[in-house]
Amino acid sequence: MNKILIIILFAIFPIVYAKGSYQDCSLYNIYSNVTTVDFDPDPPLFGLPLKFNYFVSGLKPTTTSTSIFFAFFSENANVPFDAHIMQVKSNLTELNLTDLYVHTPLITSDYAIMVALIDDSVGYVNCIMFPRFLG
Ligand SMILES: *[C@@H]1O[C@H](CO)[C@@H](O)[C@H](O)[C@H]1NC(C)=O
Ligand SMILES: *[C@@H]1O[C@H](CO)[C@@H](O)[C@H](O)[C@H]1NC(C)=O
Ligand SMILES: *[C@@H]1O[C@H](CO)[C@@H](O)[C@H](O)[C@H]1NC(C)=O
Repeated sequence: MNKILIIILFAIFPIVYAKGSYQDCSLYNIYSNVTTVDFDPDPPLFGLPLKFNYFVSGLKPTTTSTSIFFAFFSENANVPFDAHIMQVKSNLTELNLTDLYVHTPLITSDYAIMVALIDDSVGYVNCIMFPRFLG
């Protein structure tokens, strides 16, 4: 293969993080447990909503407001460029959310996704990051 063809192939097929790869949120100084989250399609496709399934057990019930937070971060950015927050039931020991649709950003599909459960009295209950940078 000549050099130009190799360059073109790399341009067409950027390196994507493996499906399912995740990390904790310590990069953002959030030190909480990670939990089971999956989404489809993974990696995300530009313009298509993501369908999330979210399950957590062993929660300490609280009567304060609880929300689930989906945020999209550029590489090395401290604040998300897009985010969605949804209130969920509080005072539960277990949360099972299925088929939760979240709109993806309309400016790029080069991002990391943060999914966090936040309770007004506790702060971050848990948090997980999915780096899906296009390399
Ligand atoms: C993480 O999970 C462990 C085991 O379930 C629990 O003992 C610990 O308190 C949790 N840590 C945080 C920060 O929620
Ligand atoms: C929270 O849940 C407990 C246990 O199910 C229940 O006894 C209590 O009434 C609930 N509190 C509120 C404010 O919903
Ligand atoms: C969560 O709810 C879905 C749909 O009701 C169910 O199929 C699934 O088994 C539940 N998951 C857990 C861990 O309870």
